[in-house]
Amino acid sequence: MIYDFNELQSTDRYKLMSNTIIPRPIAWIVTEDEVVNVAPFSYFTGLSSNPATILVSIGHKKNGDKKDTLANILKTKKATVCIVDDSFYKKVDITKEELPHNKSEAEEFEIELQKEFSEYPAMIKKARVAFFCDFFKIVEIGGKTIPTILEIKKMYIDDKLITDKENIRINFNDALSRVGASYAKIGEELKI
Ligand SMILES: Cc1cc2nc3c(=O)[nH]c(=O)nc-3n(C[C@H](O)[C@H](O)[C@H](O)COP(=O)(O)O)c2cc1C
Repeated sequence: MIYDFNELQSTDRYKLMSNTIIPRPIAWIVTEDEVVNVAPFSYFTGLSSNPATILVSIGHKKNGDKKDTLANILKTKKATVCIVDDSFYKKVDITKEELPHNKSEAEEFEIELQKEFSEYPAMIKKARVAFFCDFFKIVEIGGKTIPTILEIKKMYIDDKLITDKENIRINFNDALSRVGASYAKIGEELKI
């Protein structure tokens, strides 16, 4: 089967891409304005280690406004991007709900937070990994989503994931990930 992307609706392109570019870890992003905002994003990837950057593509609310995550990032220039293990998938899923800007998903859905640095939003408590990021830039692609580059300034990693501290070897094969409209974990490591 060959698909011509020029002839496809964007929902069908989304289905084809999100089911085949897999698994993508879910960035559970914490940002701040008057309230703490928490939302999941799976159009998410590492971009470069120098500068240490990640990319997340952020769409719009149903009414066309910027999603709260992006509005907050543009206002405060800060975001804390968390990756949790697969046990969190139900909690992650409820935070996709579009709440008013002045309502906090953390409060509404009882998501526990842990403050690590005064200058960055809190991380999700028990997240296995958290990147404390500064806004870097937006990439203009002229579509409906806004690819947003963040620069990692500090990182938290659960000690349990580190299998060799000296050589920085890490095993995070239960990272919560996205496959199509479902959730998955990264899976087993294939050792060479
Ligand atoms: C697993 C998962 C992945 C998602 N990935 C994205 C994404 O990559 N980009 C996006 O714009 N929305 C994504 N969404 C939808 C947002 O989480 C949702 O629109 C949320 O309400 C945004 O919240 P905010 O307005 O507080 O930023 C995803 C939802 C789920 C459940």
